[in-house]
Amino acid sequence: MAAEADTLALGAYLGEQTMQRYAGRASIFLQGQLGAGKTTLVRGMLQALGYGGTVKSPTYTLLEPYNIEGHEVFHFDLYRVNDPQELEFVGFDEIVDGPGLKLFEWAEKAQTWLPPPQVHVRLAVDASTQPPSREAVIVFS
Ligand SMILES: Nc1ncnc2c1ncn2[C@@H]1O[C@H](COP(=O)(O)OP(=O)(O)OP(=O)(O)O)[C@@H](O)[C@H]1O
Ligand SMILES: [Mg+2]
Repeated sequence: MAAEADTLALGAYLGEQTMQRYAGRASIFLQGQLGAGKTTLVRGMLQALGYGGTVKSPTYTLLEPYNIEGHEVFHFDLYRVNDPQELEFVGFDEIVDGPGLKLFEWAEKAQTWLPPPQVHVRLAVDASTQPPSREAVIVFS
């Protein structure tokens, strides 16, 4: 995990596994501090699923939707969200209950109002070493 390419490769693995295990219908919680690599992981996933465009962080838009070869993907960043009503304008409830792949950065902020996910990813960075050491834990359920 020492280089960005490692996080991208882990994202590709996560994308393959999600397709195999859940046929692309799954909710994934992405946890980890600011800059831990959550968006980078999503970029690796989407590229492996066949997306060739730019993967932008949904920091301000809250949601970046994709349709990749017929597969719907919804990439949320809940960092700035305090209440599910703030997401009504994107049709949040329908997306959460519907098909497709739902990716939630900062899902810990929504644990009380989101159903339990199929996949839980925790990324950790220890900056006390040079270079910083990084660890990823993926739990499939
Ligand atoms: N394994 C890695 N090694 C080194 N740098 C990495 C690694 N993974 C990601 N990065 C870099 O860390 C920076 C932050 O990554 P990223 O935006 O993916 O974090 P994030 O967890 O989404 O942060 P935020 O909580 O702000 O959304 C980027 O510049 C990215 O290239
Ligand atoms: Mg991010």
